[in-house]
Amino acid sequence: MSDHTALLAQAQEQVQASDSLDALKGIEREYLGKEGRLAELLAQIPTLPQDERPTAGREANRLKQAIVEAVEVKRAELAEAGIAAERSGDGFDPTLPPPRTERGSLHPITQVTRELEDLFQSMGYSVLDGPEVELDYYNFEALNVPADHPARDSHDTFFCEGDGHLLMRTHTSPSQIRAMESFEPPFRVIAPGKCFRHETTDASHDHTFHQMEGLVVDREISVAHLIGAMKTLLRGIFHRDLEIRLRPGFFPFVEPGFELDARCPFCENGCSVCKKTTWIELLPCGLVHPNVLRAGGLDPEEWGGFAFGLGLSRLVMLRHDIDDVRHLLANDVRFLEQF
Ligand code: DAH
Repeated sequence: MSDHTALLAQAQEQVQASDSLDALKGIEREYLGKEGRLAELLAQIPTLPQDERPTAGREANRLKQAIVEAVEVKRAELAEAGIAAERSGDGFDPTLPPPRTERGSLHPITQVTRELEDLFQSMGYSVLDGPEVELDYYNFEALNVPADHPARDSHDTFFCEGDGHLLMRTHTSPSQIRAMESFEPPFRVIAPGKCFRHETTDASHDHTFHQMEGLVVDREISVAHLIGAMKTLLRGIFHRDLEIRLRPGFFPFVEPGFELDARCPFCENGCSVCKKTTWIELLPCGLVHPNVLRAGGLDPEEWGGFAFGLGLSRLVMLRHDIDDVRHLLANDVRFLEQF
């Protein structure tokens, strides 16, 4: 019997005798593994006289094929036997619950965005999507923030390479101009989306965050319309009526401009969320500045409007009592699976 035939016979015998998939794996390793017996055989080939090498190579390959086949046949047999054993009752418990399937969920920002889109659509608003890489014109210029205007300082801007006309939008307000360019007034729109600021991050600032812009353009719009819409917005978010107050706020694209506060929905006498004041700063808003209407191609004598900029990231933090805005975009499943 040649060495090969003996080796094959030995392998086949071991394969036949193996009684588990694990044992089979061991045999596979012994013969076919990187340092297995077949590898040893192959390593010898280069030491043979030149004219014997091709035959030796072919034989080694045949041997390998035969062992592989024997292992495959046995593996199928063992698997089949395992299933049969389970079915016949050995180790098979049909009452065991299936393994838990992991289900994903919507990101909390997506959740609140969709809720607000539903709410505003039910009031006749359209949902707009604006570009995240924006022209300086839409982000600043057309919003009554000309070059060198000091308000630009508060928007630490990521500029794109090139001549400085392209930037990552610092707020969703550019959607106001884009809306005026694409809709005939009267109209109502909201524009949720990502914004970017080049600033040092901390628990309440991230370089990327979410806002939702709102804009209503119609004839004879007054602060009363703004207040009415904001109360509806609050009811949609907190599911009850909350007292509100307006404080003056300066934003170049609105006149008058306000900071709108709501009574803290979480306490009566002050808590950590409202920093013991019983008011939470909710959103800035105002009546659209005539220059902005003009930039959008509208005549301020004929049309007016109100606008607001809701911080979605902050809203999600309030709602879920999240203490660090950076959790929102860290992509950590341990955080995300809580929602
Ligand atoms: N875009 C402003 C910001 O991010 C927020 C803002 C203020 C939006 C007043 C508005 C508004 O629509 O009326 O700083």
